[in-house]
Amino acid sequence: MSHVDAKLTSYKNFTIEPFNPLIGATVHGVDLADAQDENLRAELRRALVEFQVLFFRAQSLTPEQQLAAARIFGDPDKAKAFFPKVEGHTSIEKIETGGGGYQNVADQWHTDITWSANPPTGTILYGRTIPASGGDTLWASGTRAYELLSPALQAYVETLEAVHSFEPSGWPDAFLAQPNGAAIYAQARAANQPVLHPVVRIHPVTGRKILYVNPDFTTKIKGLARKESDFLLTLLFSQFEKPEVQARLRWEQNTVAIWDNRATQHRAVADFTGARLLHRVTFGEERAF
Ligand code: SIN
Repeated sequence: MSHVDAKLTSYKNFTIEPFNPLIGATVHGVDLADAQDENLRAELRRALVEFQVLFFRAQSLTPEQQLAAARIFGDPDKAKAFFPKVEGHTSIEKIETGGGGYQNVADQWHTDITWSANPPTGTILYGRTIPASGGDTLWASGTRAYELLSPALQAYVETLEAVHSFEPSGWPDAFLAQPNGAAIYAQARAANQPVLHPVVRIHPVTGRKILYVNPDFTTKIKGLARKESDFLLTLLFSQFEKPEVQARLRWEQNTVAIWDNRATQHRAVADFTGARLLHRVTFGEERAF
């Protein structure tokens, strides 16, 4: 299904503007600080699985209101990464880089926290401080990435499972840069052993197939030799590099992005020099799949 198939007129509580032909939409006419109406909330949930990433401009959210907005879609107290938290809020992470020099950001494609057995079903990211230029975020559709494989390869990868771990990501270096980094790293490793996920997952709401490997966290295809696994993963990761599966957001202060973390990957662009601060709330369910 693409946006061409989407029943845009069936949204009664807001207008929706497709962002790209195959992924993303800007939602107009919703104040996320006051989204109490159950019909509105149900339509937002439907739009999220239909478009996979939603953008809302000119929002004004306190931390409590961002948490309340996350609760439209899931439980904000599920799996968290290792980012520092907003003071007094264990479920709101700070994605923060200071000024001066090119900034270190999450600039590798990833689906949030697939190193957990039960990753978040989605994420709400709120732009607080945005650089004058650069620091965009890109999303890529795992359903389109799967659909663009040839049928023979689709059939083969559907039989596979892959190992996911935080080890190949930037987290080990981030731990080790801290004063007691070795202990923090050891604790994170002990608490988060590698997990297996199917290489192709079925979205529980849409029934669409999702290519579910990402270069930040997927380390190996189970049962293949190292070289075979590396070659196949490189090929599968390259599906997400195709511009036609992507949406790229130019942030403004007070923009909110909400994505379906089951069906997408994302990455930031490390091309900016100023300060950048985003508040992130991941949300989940008892079982993501
Ligand atoms: C994230 O990976 O959740 C943050 C993306 C970003 O910094 O744009």
